[in-house]
Amino acid sequence: MNSEIQAIGLDIGTSKVRCVVGEPADNGKMNVIGIGEADSRGLRRGIVTAAEAVSESVRKAVGEAERVSGLEILSAVVNLSGEHFRGENKNGVVAVAGAGREIMEEDVERAIESASAMQLPAGWEIVNRLPQEFIIDGQDGITEPVGMTGARLESLVHIVIGPSAGRQNLNKAVKRAGLQVERMMLEPLAAAESTLTDDDKEYGCALVNIGAEITSLMIFGRGAVQHTAVFPFGGLHFTKDIAVGLRVSIQEANKIKHRYGCVGSFLMDDEEKVEVIEIMPVGRTETRGLTKEILCDIMQPRAVELLQHIAHEVVGTQAQISSGVILTGGGSVARGCSSASARGTWTR
Ligand SMILES: Nc1ncnc2c1ncn2[C@@H]1O[C@H](COP(=O)(O)OP(=O)(O)OP(=O)(O)O)[C@@H](O)[C@H]1O
Ligand SMILES: [Mg+2]
Repeated sequence: MNSEIQAIGLDIGTSKVRCVVGEPADNGKMNVIGIGEADSRGLRRGIVTAAEAVSESVRKAVGEAERVSGLEILSAVVNLSGEHFRGENKNGVVAVAGAGREIMEEDVERAIESASAMQLPAGWEIVNRLPQEFIIDGQDGITEPVGMTGARLESLVHIVIGPSAGRQNLNKAVKRAGLQVERMMLEPLAAAESTLTDDDKEYGCALVNIGAEITSLMIFGRGAVQHTAVFPFGGLHFTKDIAVGLRVSIQEANKIKHRYGCVGSFLMDDEEKVEVIEIMPVGRTETRGLTKEILCDIMQPRAVELLQHIAHEVVGTQAQISSGVILTGGGSVARGCSSASARGTWTR
């Protein structure tokens, strides 16, 4: 395999592990030439809880991607997720001392480093330093300071921090599966790469990735990340609500959710509301019927709760999100999710 021209992405999620093989296309984009998917084991809320089980899921997903693409996969870019990540906005300042006070790459690095000086909880590390803008002698809004002239260089940086053990354990689990980790990429950043346009990032948007057990939120504005938050909520919570509410197994609840689920009763007309679906309760041998409206009554409050958390963060940061809220992740596929969010406190 020529690793220079292939791009391998490995998304280790709480419900699925997915491996995607890409090849550059003539138009500057990527052609997907192989996908492998396996049920995920050994993770809770994005954190490794059983390394060998994670390795086994990785082996299965990668093996399938190899068969489909016809390539041997030796390394991959791996997503980094978990419920503990959080972002903070920091600023740093350095004096520019070089000849003619021309700002060099090293000055920019020092300015970012100076913004990164912070007290971390024990066992935590800086996962990403994402520059927002630079200020040279009071002139703000500068995105590429190298080569400019000035005496004082200030940096505004969004710093994402998280527990280092989470990253190390994920790294070990991938290596155990026989794969090198080319680089780790924060999950919401990877989601942003695949879903947002430059305009979305520039004019402002909230990217919400609803997974199985966690939902990440990243707010963009002026071309940079302005806020990061992760909530321990996801599609699995809907499944559990259905399982408890209808007294069915988790597998049956998942099937019902995927086939008939809806989180916005306003999307159903009167006829659909009374449509009957058949479910198989736990310990029974015969199905029983219930209306679609009852299923929606179980799912809707959870969707409202999740969207309220997101609205609270967006309002709290006073972010201008002219490009609106952009939903991604398996949980966002639930019927009515995007309509319900558009009806919330924001508009797209
Ligand atoms: N059509 C659908 N309707 C409702 N929910 C769906 C649908 N398709 C997928 N989901 C839900 O999406 C969730 C999985 O999403 P995703 O694959 O993004 O999660 P993950 O990346 O494995 O997990 P995480 O990001 O939380 O670690 C599951 O709860 C699944 O039931
Ligand atoms: Mg995910």
